[in-house]
Amino acid sequence: MTIKELIIYGTKKIKENDIENANLQAKIILLNLIKQSKQYLIINQEEKISEDIEEKYKKDINKIIDGIPIQYITKNQEFMKLNFYVDKNVLIPQPDTEILVEEVINISKKLENIKILDICTGSGAIAITLAKYIKDSKIYATDISKEAIKIASKNAKKNKVKEQITFLVSDMFNKIPNQNFDIIVSNPPYIEKNVINNLPKQVKNEPYIALNGGKDGLDFYKIISNNAYKFLNSDGYLCLEIGYNQKNYVIKLLENTNKYKDIYCKKDLANNDRIIIARKKV
Ligand SMILES: C[S@@+](CC[C@H](N)C(=O)[O-])C[C@H]1O[C@@H](n2cnc3c(N)ncnc32)[C@H](O)[C@@H]1O
Repeated sequence: MTIKELIIYGTKKIKENDIENANLQAKIILLNLIKQSKQYLIINQEEKISEDIEEKYKKDINKIIDGIPIQYITKNQEFMKLNFYVDKNVLIPQPDTEILVEEVINISKKLENIKILDICTGSGAIAITLAKYIKDSKIYATDISKEAIKIASKNAKKNKVKEQITFLVSDMFNKIPNQNFDIIVSNPPYIEKNVINNLPKQVKNEPYIALNGGKDGLDFYKIISNNAYKFLNSDGYLCLEIGYNQKNYVIKLLENTNKYKDIYCKKDLANNDRIIIARKKV
């Protein structure tokens, strides 16, 4: 089949299954296999593609139909202009999380030689972006998943910040050395357990432990609010991503400990509450 025929074939198959952006996804799948630029597809529409690639292409189109996110097929996601390897072991970094990273970068401008802890690091997107954009920062990045830590470490190498980051497998704060961090940042699992079943199948194909925030979605915020202050410097910052409907609950959890001050929330580009920042009381 030619490039043109393959794209028509893939687009039709994806569309028939009511999946959005069919034409774009069909093109990305093909580009990923022939390792060429977008322009190449346009200029060489009549080029015949080898049977080997055609077979792989059809398999990948079937994966899209089965609800596998395209990023797990191309093994890449861009985040804050950096590229991250992703597969089924890690959550795909989301654009909403850029709001959290941007706020941490802003906060860091007031500080020097800062020590940051990224808890629940997944692909390492937050830790690695911070290492890249905050000069002289020292970062600890942790996750309960060994596979996620392997991927995060690989991503640090890919983005040339490996020396700046210490990776650690840890169940929340269990293995974290008491380092007096200036900033603790986290995008923990925060979806209510019984909502997960109703999510689109692409999201359900992401790791369950990256999504499940327990019965009320707040399990991890409870652990974080009860522990983060023990690992923060006085006046240190706690920076959290939250679900669109969790602002008041998370603020209450933080206030109830009586350990945090200056709590505020910021919205994402869709005007949903998205991050909570707090400082440790002196
Ligand atoms: C929502 S994902 C966030 C990933 C990444 N920080 C991001 O923003 O793209 C949550 C991560 O928390 C990790 N996780 C789940 N339970 C954990 C636990 N008890 N301790 C540490 N990490 C945990 C999951 O493995 C997953 O990588």
